[in-house]
Amino acid sequence: MFDTIAVVGATGAVGRLIRTLLAERELPFGRIKFLASERSAGSTIEFRGETHVVELLCPDAFDGINLAIGSTPDPVAKEFVPWAVDRGCVVIDESGYWRMDPTVPLVVPEVNPEAARNHRGIIASPNCSTTQMVVAMKPLHDAGRIRRVVVSTYQATSGAGVVGQADLENGTHMACHGKDYEYQAFAHPIAFNLIPQIGSPKHAGYTSEEMKMVLETQKIFGDDSIRVCPTCVRVPVSNCHSESILVETEKKITLDQARELFASAPGIKLVDDLPNGKYPMPRDCSGEDATFVGRVREDLSCDNGIAFWCVSDNLRKGAATNAVQIAELLATQGASVS
Ligand SMILES: NC(=O)c1ccc[n+]([C@@H]2O[C@H](COP(=O)([O-])OP(=O)(O)OC[C@H]3O[C@@H](n4cnc5c(N)ncnc54)[C@H](OP(=O)(O)O)[C@@H]3O)[C@@H](O)[C@H]2O)c1
Repeated sequence: MFDTIAVVGATGAVGRLIRTLLAERELPFGRIKFLASERSAGSTIEFRGETHVVELLCPDAFDGINLAIGSTPDPVAKEFVPWAVDRGCVVIDESGYWRMDPTVPLVVPEVNPEAARNHRGIIASPNCSTTQMVVAMKPLHDAGRIRRVVVSTYQATSGAGVVGQADLENGTHMACHGKDYEYQAFAHPIAFNLIPQIGSPKHAGYTSEEMKMVLETQKIFGDDSIRVCPTCVRVPVSNCHSESILVETEKKITLDQARELFASAPGIKLVDDLPNGKYPMPRDCSGEDATFVGRVREDLSCDNGIAFWCVSDNLRKGAATNAVQIAELLATQGASVS
């Protein structure tokens, strides 16, 4: 039981969903407070029938808080997380800032729940494109040890926050009326287009988003020898990231085995019936907590390969749901700082 919890970045795309999940699910807590920047401080939020005033994020805001779930930009997380930890608060952070810190566990409850036990006040939740991929990889890795992954992503505009969501709607509307539109979240028009760059150039021709998929996957599985080749693409889809994934395993996994493994894995829903046109699509998966898998095939180009299609709600399992699941894990494990 947490006496008081805080939602940091409560007014953002992820923060709004965290509020919804906390209202719906069973995380045991007494009081709750909502923090954001001076842009939103003073505005009000309805939560479980009560009106709360959004407070300004500042060091003293964490006095008396046991648990904070943060979804803010990286520079904000860099600053506020130590304020909270210094006051004895455990932080579950959605940003990218703390994920690769060796003292910070990076946790997906279906994959590496045990890592949460070793926290020193901070637990990071992975990037949305990584989370759904590792959930889908987990049963194959346990059965056949994954050596290599080739993944292409089709990432929704909600991955770029409330501004990204607005850009798709407004940019499409303006394009349909033959008018120019100044995009806020994207460097190129996203309406009727694809952008094969998410994040900044980072390493050997790969972007920061792509390198997150490489490094976070290795950290979550605790295995630096898993080789990942990602291409991340922003697509004009409002919500849910899709991924075309090819994994190569040490031990052969047949098509039937792969389907059975996916069907029985926690957090995965298998929707795989090509003859009847059934496979996961973003508009069907939006609002769902599961990671959806379909189009499962043996790789025609190598002996031990399984190819599949994977869709998940980036704001839910890719962010808010994963963070709230970590909080639920802490509630059962005990949330004190080790
Ligand atoms: N969107 C996704 O699919 C997704 C998935 C996984 C992880 N994440 C990560 O989650 C974080 C939030 O993403 P988002 O999509 O929710 O972004 P967003 O919609 O832009 O929301 C950002 C939130 O942070 C707050 N904030 C910004 N600057 C602040 C400051 N200086 N002080 C205090 N609060 C501040 C905003 O408050 P105001 O209302 O006051 O501006 C807002 O509540 C990012 O690190 C992102 O990388 C996002």
